[in-house]
Amino acid sequence: MQNQQRLTNKVAIITGAGSGIGRATAKRFAEEGAKLVLNDISQASLEEIAAELDCPDRCTTVSGDVSLETTAQLLKETALERFGKIDILVNNAGIHWIQDITETSVEDFDHVINVNLKSMFLNCKSVIPEMMKQNGGVIVNLSSVSGYVGQEMMGKSTFLYNMTKAAILQMTRSLATRYAKSGIRVTCVAPGVTKTNQITTEHTPDLDGFWQAVEGVQPLGRYADPREIANCIVFLACDEASFVTGSSLVVDGGYLAL
Ligand SMILES: NC(=O)c1ccc[n+]([C@@H]2O[C@H](COP(=O)([O-])OP(=O)(O)OC[C@H]3O[C@@H](n4cnc5c(N)ncnc54)[C@H](O)[C@@H]3O)[C@@H](O)[C@H]2O)c1
Repeated sequence: MQNQQRLTNKVAIITGAGSGIGRATAKRFAEEGAKLVLNDISQASLEEIAAELDCPDRCTTVSGDVSLETTAQLLKETALERFGKIDILVNNAGIHWIQDITETSVEDFDHVINVNLKSMFLNCKSVIPEMMKQNGGVIVNLSSVSGYVGQEMMGKSTFLYNMTKAAILQMTRSLATRYAKSGIRVTCVAPGVTKTNQITTEHTPDLDGFWQAVEGVQPLGRYADPREIANCIVFLACDEASFVTGSSLVVDGGYLAL
């Protein structure tokens, strides 16, 4: 029997689709038949992924900063004008932060909160009314194992990143219970260390040492490939996960189980 595509004719907005997990998710969604509205702050990376997917009838791009309300508005309008509905929102865009609280400026604090958290508030606020009109929809938020534990990296705290990722877990629960009766599922993926630019750019001075350290503390003995996270996002977004809402799927090679 031929494998059926799991997202045929579903319209999905994916933020931060130019790189890493977002990019892998865009590819997996395209393979599963979805119609895509892809966002990133980097126009060049969006052009790359659109060329790679090579399905212009099913894919459009919107560059812009997810921490701005105008970007959320534009994403919604583009999805509605181009494809007529919004079935899925993947709130993926996010930035890492390694700095002790004593060294973090108020401006840096606001920036990380705005990109990682305010963006999700803005996009959820924007698409939920459309999903309510359709009596259904799915939101998948990207949290992290960092939302569950205190962490240090390279001898410094990641407190601010962890705060945003923990808040995403709670936002997922709160929106899931509020909108369950409207047919909207709100879910969350919490990846462990995944080989993407988010990690490689920050650990450039000792990247090999960093990957070795990761492999040493992971029960599965390795980091994730972005596609392994994207596979879980596909599952949560499709009808196979029809009874999943309000919860977080931890995809971490066993890291939190230790
Ligand atoms: N890589 C990991 O180990 C890991 C682990 C747990 C959770 N996550 C989460 O997964 C998500 C994706 O991370 P990734 O590892 O793929 O990172 P990445 O850096 O490879 O990709 C993030 C993408 O988001 C875009 N982006 C950044 N700021 C933006 C903004 N203001 N507006 C729009 N786009 C913006 C970047 O240009 C980039 O293309 C993030 O929310 C991250 O916190 C990553």
